[in-house]
Amino acid sequence: MEVIIRETKADAVSLAAAIIARALRARPNLVLGLATGRTMEAVYELLVRLYEDDGLDFSLARTFNLDEYVGLPPEDPGSYRFYMNKHLFHRVNIDLRNAHLPNGMADDLNAECANYERLIKDCNGIDLQLLGIGRTGHIGFNEPLSAMRSRTRTKALAPETIEQNCPFFKGEPPRRAITMGVGTILECRRCLLLATGAEKADVIAKAVEGPVTAMISASALQLHPKCTVIVDEAAASRLEHGHYYRWVFENEPEWQEYH
Ligand code: F6R
Repeated sequence: MEVIIRETKADAVSLAAAIIARALRARPNLVLGLATGRTMEAVYELLVRLYEDDGLDFSLARTFNLDEYVGLPPEDPGSYRFYMNKHLFHRVNIDLRNAHLPNGMADDLNAECANYERLIKDCNGIDLQLLGIGRTGHIGFNEPLSAMRSRTRTKALAPETIEQNCPFFKGEPPRRAITMGVGTILECRRCLLLATGAEKADVIAKAVEGPVTAMISASALQLHPKCTVIVDEAAASRLEHGHYYRWVFENEPEWQEYH
């Protein structure tokens, strides 16, 4: 795991977008794993700008979102399909047939989950998976006690996550979601986790420097051979080894072009 600390949220977001754009330019038919949530809105805004101003091409890209609520149709403003259309898909030249999210309206949710795993395999796996982190330590909707080897499945959301989601729903927020499993995420060739703001500081410290535990699903990323965690100063404020992470970013050749 590598941790990159940027001064502001804008700096952290722009580094994440630059890494994604570089990967897409290097491999136009990239298989890109996507996340939703407040943190990612700014990333998608930058990717849209790169598409409009610098010709970043999504026409051959294939995407797989981490999760979708159970019981919400795509036209529901609370659904993640709606979110993705609004923030990215309808604003760039992606072929919507290649932009996948689990179908939370499927009659047979287990079959839908198995099918999602199969679709990912048919694309030869995910090249780059974008991740956020929830206050419970979830990646995707892998709430505490999600098995390290879990696959795409339905998951009951933790009370803290439901509370976190309340502002996005007029009525009762959904209590269940389909999510890629921790095991599914660990199989992606590269993971990129972005977290900003002081409210993420505690959980980032646990995920990065704490023990690997199913109580904090993001800690499983310590087992991933190529995982980059990008945080702003606020989200990094509880990390103990910040000076080391900063030295690595300043000095390792891989990161020179991003300075
Ligand atoms: C959403 C997802 C979640 C969010 C996490 C952080 O697709 O997978 O894990 O990334 O809940 O959400 P924000 O950015 O709203 O704090």
